[in-house]
Amino acid sequence: MAILHIAKLGNPVLRKPADPVDPEAIKKPVFQQLIDDLFETMLENEGIGLAAPQVSRSEQLVVTGCKGEGGFPETVLINPKILFYGPHQVEMWEGCLSVDGLRGKVTRPSMVRVQGLDRHGTLQDFEATGLYAVCIQHELDHLIGKIFLDRMTDMSTLTQLEEFEAYWKQEAAPVI
Ligand code: NI
Repeated sequence: MAILHIAKLGNPVLRKPADPVDPEAIKKPVFQQLIDDLFETMLENEGIGLAAPQVSRSEQLVVTGCKGEGGFPETVLINPKILFYGPHQVEMWEGCLSVDGLRGKVTRPSMVRVQGLDRHGTLQDFEATGLYAVCIQHELDHLIGKIFLDRMTDMSTLTQLEEFEAYWKQEAAPVI
């Protein structure tokens, strides 16, 4: 296991569409190691999601996980697709491990149906709601070169971390 270096805003890898993963490659030790390293790097940085392009690997792989109340299970998604967006929207504070010190409000569908391979290469098809749905959408955006800042419709909520702690912390802010 290893803590990987996180690419930060401005690194071109974050703006590049990620390549699909060859399903044959999933079971190889080097790919399994990458999955483990993504989880370790996410947890070390207190994130709830991490996409492979954020560690300079331009591949369609994301990991998510959030312990505790309102959390969701550790999930690996390879070559994921969103098949359906629910009709309702939810506004949440978001941050990103590739964007230091900023938080901003983003409005997204509150439910998604997702399909993707797991770490064994098995097809998963499930619905996610609330924070889990937001996290998945944020991570899948990384696979098409999008950052949460691109999804903000009202830039007036963009907040530096110190000010977030002072004025807005009562509203939860996932760091994805
Ligand atoms: Ni992010």
